[in-house]
Amino acid sequence: MAAAADRILEVRDLVKHFPLTSGVVLKRQIGAIKAVDGVSFDLNRGETLGIVGESGCGKSTLAKLLMALERPTSGSVKVNGREIANARGGELKRMRRNIQMVMQDPYTSLNPRMTVGDIVGEPYDIHTEVAPKGDRRKKVQELLEVVGLNPDHINRYPHQFSGGQRQRIGIARGLALQPEVIVCDEPVSALDVSIQAQVINLLERLQREFSLAYIFIAHDLSVVRHISDRVGVMYLGKFVELGKDAEIYDRPAHPYTQALLSAVPVPDPEGREQRERIILQGDPPSPANPPSGCRFRTRCWKAQEICAEQEPLLQIRPGTAHASACHFAETHDVVHVN
Ligand SMILES: Nc1ncnc2c1ncn2[C@@H]1O[C@H](COP(=O)(O)OP(=O)(O)OP(=O)(O)O)[C@@H](O)[C@H]1O
Ligand code: SF4
Ligand SMILES: [Mg+2]
Repeated sequence: MAAAADRILEVRDLVKHFPLTSGVVLKRQIGAIKAVDGVSFDLNRGETLGIVGESGCGKSTLAKLLMALERPTSGSVKVNGREIANARGGELKRMRRNIQMVMQDPYTSLNPRMTVGDIVGEPYDIHTEVAPKGDRRKKVQELLEVVGLNPDHINRYPHQFSGGQRQRIGIARGLALQPEVIVCDEPVSALDVSIQAQVINLLERLQREFSLAYIFIAHDLSVVRHISDRVGVMYLGKFVELGKDAEIYDRPAHPYTQALLSAVPVPDPEGREQRERIILQGDPPSPANPPSGCRFRTRCWKAQEICAEQEPLLQIRPGTAHASACHFAETHDVVHVN
């Protein structure tokens, strides 16, 4: 168990429900979209927590809650022991310096009318204390160099760069305020597979050089494997499994994780034979109307009566730091051939 001083983020029972309304003029609330519905975890300094789950399970909403870009319905997010969820004004500004974000789509997240220098230096408009006007150009050029871009290209526009280079620009902007945590919301999903590895390698190098902690969000377990120390698997607004990456990949306990892992392609044909392929039926149910009991039960091949009646809690397996939420959790060894 990490000491409190090692902990940079503490998230407890975090909930975000978006109201579901009907009527054009007189809006009546008829329900709620339970985008994030009781998430708890810690992030330690210098650590990477990978967060994985299908589209719509609440990953981006969770990312926005961590940065206080969305306000929670309930629950708590502490950065260095201080609550960000209720912070306002100058206090929020100070806290945001320490937790920055890299967005999914480098094509739409960079303003096409701004030069790279203005994009990367934009955080200094708000945080003038970090880079006074005279230092700004030098700082931005240094940041471009750190992420592997030519500092002489400071006056170019985003369309003059490739997708991978644009994501480097986004990463340089994320680094500008020297944060301790960067929330990366699917930072490589929009990139070609060949470029994905380069961007992940860059993030790993920056982590070592600047002692960064990352929240690294992805759809796919294979993308987060390389970079994560721990992995959280999300389903319909909740973590269903959370543990060290070796525990999750080699001994997944939750049927959903087992299904996600069985879908990860193994390049060696022998490996494919040894891994049982589990095909998940259908799409996840609507977060406006999640199933009773276990939310995964409508797609789970192991579901029993109790699964509809009682919600399984996220519980740690004795002697490990590996938690899963299933009435019938069992470890399921995965044979990795390569
Ligand atoms: N501002 C909002 N108002 C209403 N509903 C929202 C809002 N933002 C997100 N949602 C809903 O909350 C749920 C979770 O969305 P979210 O974007 O967090 O999922 P995600 O896991 O990031 O998905 P993806 O993998 O597609 O990016 C979805 O059903 C989405 O439609
Ligand atoms: S609690 Fe039941 S439905 Fe849910 S994952 Fe476990 S076996 Fe499947
Ligand atoms: Mg998202």
